[in-house]
Amino acid sequence: MRICHISDTHIGSSSHFNRGIFNTFMDDIKQDDFDILLHSGDLTQSGSPEQYEEGKQFLKELNKPYVIIPGNHDARSGGLHLYRRYIGNPNGAKVFDDAVIIYVDSSIPDSNNGRVGQQKFQLIKRSLEKHTQKKIKIVVIHHHVMPIPMAGRERNILANAGDLLDLFLKYDVDLVVSGHRHYPNVYHVENTVFINAGTFSCTKTRYGDENSYNIIEISKDKQKVITKRPKTTVTNEFPRFERRIFSDFDKHIKSIAHMSNTFISDARAFRKKHLTSALESIKKLNPDHIIHCGGVVQEGIEKNYELALRYFGDLKQKMFFTPAGRDLNYLGYHLFPEYCGELDYIYEDEKVIMHGINSSQYDSNIGFVGSIARKQLITKFLKKKDKFKVVFLHHNITPIPHSREKGLLEDSGDLLRELVDANIDLVLTGTSSHPFAVRVSNTLIINANSTSSIYQRSILGNSFNLVDVYEQAIVLYEINSLWGTRKLKGIWERNKKIK
Ligand SMILES: [Fe+2]
Ligand SMILES: [Fe+2]
Repeated sequence: MRICHISDTHIGSSSHFNRGIFNTFMDDIKQDDFDILLHSGDLTQSGSPEQYEEGKQFLKELNKPYVIIPGNHDARSGGLHLYRRYIGNPNGAKVFDDAVIIYVDSSIPDSNNGRVGQQKFQLIKRSLEKHTQKKIKIVVIHHHVMPIPMAGRERNILANAGDLLDLFLKYDVDLVVSGHRHYPNVYHVENTVFINAGTFSCTKTRYGDENSYNIIEISKDKQKVITKRPKTTVTNEFPRFERRIFSDFDKHIKSIAHMSNTFISDARAFRKKHLTSALESIKKLNPDHIIHCGGVVQEGIEKNYELALRYFGDLKQKMFFTPAGRDLNYLGYHLFPEYCGELDYIYEDEKVIMHGINSSQYDSNIGFVGSIARKQLITKFLKKKDKFKVVFLHHNITPIPHSREKGLLEDSGDLLRELVDANIDLVLTGTSSHPFAVRVSNTLIINANSTSSIYQRSILGNSFNLVDVYEQAIVLYEINSLWGTRKLKGIWERNKKIK
């Protein structure tokens, strides 16, 4: 299957719409022998009848099958009604012999934010269930699911991006295409390729980039994504089916207990018994390291840190901490280093390098790392090519299911891209209190549930993670804080070669 993927044409007046590049790209794609065109939204600049009329004409002129969805710009000023009149149903599924393309409108009227409501979420789920046997499953959605680099502050992410990510991975979707951020980006997340298109013909490009579009080729065993700019092309290739059952893990390298949101205090929200039981389990498991990804105390006051010291003081292993905003509140900014160690803690031995990075600030739940800290972090890791590389921070860098995605780490788009490109092996986070793991290229990203606060989001109850690292695999268990029962969350093969 050969797909032409374009997005964000923004047809309108010359201040937004670059007609010159539009015509150039149109000439190019008219000569391309693709099977279907996917347009991932923002066909028009402001959803007016004239703009829709022109958009409709250009789709007709191409004379190829196409799937299109509305973007936030198309929905402006009640534009969604016009979309139905000129273009058609904004939600549905196009079914082929071997493939299914599911498309949904994620726009919210007069808002730049995105959402896939319950009905549309079920529509996607039902379509995926119905077409589970199809060889190629594609979803088209305007707003991005994975954070996008080089697009400024991470925002307008879908409110339920985590649930959608979870759904796409569970149903083995091959390809998810989006637009909206006007910056081209490709991620291989587990077996699913997430493509964000740059803008086809809007004058608003990012970081001096040029306009672009994608050609995607899906064959039996690989997906090829070719991003085309006026004079250059960039090609990415990904294997389609990875081995999921394997047995040779080779040597054991490290085991890491990973916890967050212990919430230590004398408040009722702190479950003392859950924490003491979890610590008993950890003592029995005897991991090499214990990493706490923030939310150590309920608030950063001395009494809470004193209490934390009593709980954690008699552990054999040295614990590594990274703060959440609440740990730094009040006098926490002084108390955290005194009781928990440096804000950016670094550990290194002959096998691993583990780097904590503070993403929190007091009196705010917004996270950011910042370009200087990101650069220092990556530079440090680049010198340690042969070691197992771990980054731990409080805020999430991929969406988390069962929580409203707020895109709280402002530079999650840039940080995720940089960590993946630097081949960081493992990223541990601790927000939103839901245990979740996902691999992006070679980087496994794991989020922890709350170990001992009533505000937790795992069906298993309060829990912590046990990460077992082998030469050839990473094995993840979620362990119930109170009972010590464990659930296997996943096994990921390491050192894989891309064909
Ligand atoms: Fe756009
Ligand atoms: Fe948009």
